[in-house]
Amino acid sequence: MKNSHYFANVALGAALIGTGITDAFAAEPTIRELAKERGRFIGTILNSEWFNDAIEPEFEEIHKTQFNVVVAENEMKFDATEPVENEFNFVKGDKMVKYAQENKIRVRGHALAWHSQVAGWVSSNYSGQKEKLLAVLKNHIEKVVGHYKGQVAEWDVVNEAINDDYNAGWRSNGSVWYEGIGAEFLDSAFVWAHKADPKAELCYNDYSLEWGLREGSKASFVVEQVKRWKANGIPITCVGTQTHIEIAHETTPQNVRALAKALAELGVTLNITELDIGFPKGEAGKLTAADYAKQGHLYRQFMDVFLEEPNMGEFVIWGLTDAHSWLDEQQGKTEALLYDRQYKPKPAYDSVMASLMAHPATDVVSPYDSKLFIDPQDSTETDSTIAIKAVASPASLSMRVSGRTLFIAGANSAKVEVFDMQGRPVFSGKSEKGSVELKGIAEGIYMVRVRDGSSSLVKRKNIYGKNRVASPSRGSFFHIKKRPSRFSEGTLERNY
Ligand code: G3I
Repeated sequence: MKNSHYFANVALGAALIGTGITDAFAAEPTIRELAKERGRFIGTILNSEWFNDAIEPEFEEIHKTQFNVVVAENEMKFDATEPVENEFNFVKGDKMVKYAQENKIRVRGHALAWHSQVAGWVSSNYSGQKEKLLAVLKNHIEKVVGHYKGQVAEWDVVNEAINDDYNAGWRSNGSVWYEGIGAEFLDSAFVWAHKADPKAELCYNDYSLEWGLREGSKASFVVEQVKRWKANGIPITCVGTQTHIEIAHETTPQNVRALAKALAELGVTLNITELDIGFPKGEAGKLTAADYAKQGHLYRQFMDVFLEEPNMGEFVIWGLTDAHSWLDEQQGKTEALLYDRQYKPKPAYDSVMASLMAHPATDVVSPYDSKLFIDPQDSTETDSTIAIKAVASPASLSMRVSGRTLFIAGANSAKVEVFDMQGRPVFSGKSEKGSVELKGIAEGIYMVRVRDGSSSLVKRKNIYGKNRVASPSRGSFFHIKKRPSRFSEGTLERNY
């Protein structure tokens, strides 16, 4: 687990260096900026309409602005990538990978071995033929994972292989793989995927894992299988809980927390991979502000769990806008996502943002290598100084804080700006005779920038009351500023 302070510094560094302070703070932060600061990935699918260039322009604009992980709704499944035996079609997957690379977005691959959306030729030619089916699945995984090696960060290697009726068993009917090979197809799929791309994260993905750890439940069965896989050296690194739920399913966030804790003991990451929180379809058009606030509250709880559990890495919602959701077409549910049919953010979006702001980067542990969150233009420095490219060297400038007074050496009168750890301006002033009082700022950790003509210097500083001394044993003090904001749940102010 990496030091999460790092993410705050690097991300803010990127914001300060990449776009200049004023730009970086002009707009409200985005979900992806806050996710990056916290060493996490938050995202959503690219609907099939995107692949067919049949979706509104707002879709992609919002997707690449707000999210830092992506997955294809259908275009990397078996029937799409190998529609004809041993003839592979990567055109649409390549289109997604290109989009993701251009926009610095992580790619999930979904899904290699699944009982659904398997190309028809598999069953018609090889149903029940174990050796042939093993050869077909091995070839499929080697070719698909091999093609995307180094481009797809994580695969749903096996999807939905556990049966539905809570008697803790594998899905034994309707699966060409299980019926023809037996449960060993799962172990083999992970081994083949790892061999094809040793650096890729490898997940077991399923639905109804949010119904709790108890005798005979899918979640308990998954934990048992992960234990067995880990003991046998099967290279699984993550579990995906799809989490397709309804507004009434209020116990599910805490069940996801319990599953995360159980998997943390096995050294395995838990990702939320397909979240949607739908209303019964008949309620479309009749929903009230209270309904949408309730949906937001449930999204908030999932995001709280996600940010608070150190072995959770990705939070993926199965759709961006209510205008394009599988739920309406196939599930009799509706209005499940963060953006409405006109691409306007709903209270659920504000609740996700409120949760992110209530969990500052200094508080969130990341299960990933911090290198994943460094953009080329990010500062490579990891200490608390984030040097801004200045025309003249700032070597002549230095600063120190004592209580509420900022002392500046190397400049008699300089412009002073202070930003909170989310990069928002909280103070602006001018030093006279080498010092300035930092008035009206709550105690906490801030980024302080001093500019004197063409020289500029930024340092992270703890700003306390008159005689306050940092208490290293209790970690750092920080505040999230209460600020007028449209985020329905507001932001919190809290001392640590
Ligand atoms: O592409 C064909 C199109 O040519 C044809 O005209 C049309 C007519 O029916 O069908 C189109 O294919 C549809 C495909 O989505 C692409 O839009 C399939 O019928 C339809 O069944 C398929 O539904 C997908 C579903 O998986 C299939 O199981 C949904 O879009 C997709 O959101 C959903 O996603 C799954 C995850 O992969 C696994 N977890 C559950 C989740 C929801 O079911």
